[in-house]
Amino acid sequence: MLFSSSPALAALRSYATTLDTTSLRVLFANDPERFRRFSLEAAGLLFDYSKCRVDAETMRLLCTLAEERGLRERIDAMFRGERINTTEQRSVLHTALRNRSSEPVLVDGSDVMPAVGRVLEAMREFSERVRSGEHAGVTGERITDVVNIGIGGSDLGPAMVCQALQPYTRSDLRVHFVSNVDGADIATTLAPLDPARTLFIIASKTFTTQETMANARAARRWLVRSAGEGAVAQQMVALSTNHAAVAAFGIEQERTFEFWDWVGGRYSLWSAIGLSIAVAVGFDRFEELLDGAHELDAHFRSAPFERNVPVLLGLLRILSVNVHGAQAVAVLPYSQQLRRLPAWLQQLDMESNGKRVTLAGESVDWQTGPVIFGEPGTNGQHSFHQLLHQGATPIPCDFIVPMRSAYAVDDQHAMLVANALAQAEALMRGRTAEEARAAMEQEGRASEEIERLVPHRVFPGNRPSITIAMEQVTPRSLGALLALYEHATFVQGAIWGINSFDQWGVELGKQLAGAILPELTGDTRTHHDSSTAGLIERYHRGG
Ligand code: F6P
Repeated sequence: MLFSSSPALAALRSYATTLDTTSLRVLFANDPERFRRFSLEAAGLLFDYSKCRVDAETMRLLCTLAEERGLRERIDAMFRGERINTTEQRSVLHTALRNRSSEPVLVDGSDVMPAVGRVLEAMREFSERVRSGEHAGVTGERITDVVNIGIGGSDLGPAMVCQALQPYTRSDLRVHFVSNVDGADIATTLAPLDPARTLFIIASKTFTTQETMANARAARRWLVRSAGEGAVAQQMVALSTNHAAVAAFGIEQERTFEFWDWVGGRYSLWSAIGLSIAVAVGFDRFEELLDGAHELDAHFRSAPFERNVPVLLGLLRILSVNVHGAQAVAVLPYSQQLRRLPAWLQQLDMESNGKRVTLAGESVDWQTGPVIFGEPGTNGQHSFHQLLHQGATPIPCDFIVPMRSAYAVDDQHAMLVANALAQAEALMRGRTAEEARAAMEQEGRASEEIERLVPHRVFPGNRPSITIAMEQVTPRSLGALLALYEHATFVQGAIWGINSFDQWGVELGKQLAGAILPELTGDTRTHHDSSTAGLIERYHRGG
């Protein structure tokens, strides 16, 4: 059955209108226990959804929708290793990468955990040798700089985690990330580095991605030019599923950290793709990241839907998108360490659920994945929060709030948290015309000016937000947070009945770029629309 034909969805849509006339401000005023009723803790995270437009009946109807859509069966199928990525005929088992239990995980009847364990041990051994100086450059110099070359899931996850765990890194071993094929990325990254002290990690699941391979070739030329061919074997390692392509590039098997086709790119930071994290913060911290994610996985597998944080996050997204019509979601980490979290979430959510057909290939007639955007707080407040508060269309917001910081600068962290809580409160309660008048009378404004400004200074409020709080950004809390979003993404796709684990939408652009490139680098011309043809001519005209 199509999601849009779901009786549970119809019941939810019908009931939700009864809440349209009751603002969040009134719901809080009528129930002093609202926060307690609509918040819960799991894996060290406090999940506060009391500022969402829900009541007990709404939550019951949402959980009924999840049951009707077979969510429980889909969760079990994923963890069992069934090939739920049906268009690529693959299992989806990023959870196996962080399976800290002794439970086997079977793919095609064989337990994948021994191989996962072997790769983790190889990562531990190598990262510790680099950090200790035992693994040196080809001239014997200690490695001081590690450059991860990858893009998409082979960049965003490790880069975001290394930044988030900055307090756990060392100043004498710096990790850099190159992703864009724009030469500016690798050129500016390598310019200050010493080839004798630089290790390259070529991260690519397929080892065919155009941008990554171009940057990998540029890195190899840079290395060989200064340190000779021997440097490739000593100072380049590969993270990939494609052993043949890695060997063809010139990196040996023993310098290759493998992962498997049941690990999706945007779900891969827990795999060998996380090697740069282990080098940056140490393997023990990397394991704590895995531990946090595993704890959240266990909660996701076992908690009843009404007490299941990833399920509730996914269902509340569906309420926003498919009942209240939201087409965008703002993710606002009140943490400079988490400033790249929105970027990681964009790929996770939009590459997973930016789909227009169901698993069966039927066109959807409902909204699927929303646009995800965000900036760290408090910066967003001085950029796009105007629209969040007074724009024509409400945009649901996720506030992510570490209550403590590793960086004690006077009372600035308290200021940061105060702003996070204030933004969520302002979105919820708004400001009435009477309150706006009173504020302007306080300012001493003349009554004529007050009346002129009132419409501009009213805040509609009743704008939903979720707050996810943790004590501090640590490897463990970060692991739980990232796993939470992975599973919430899965929950939405499962309920919509779409495939959250393929990404056919990225191939047409790649194919067309392959056709245009020789028309830029040479004189060949093929037929294009007049815009593309005109722009190709502009490229050649120069000046
Ligand atoms: O964007 C398409 C994509 O395949 C992503 O899913 C993936 O994370 C990225 O490109 C990089 O792919 P690879 O790790 O194979 O280089």
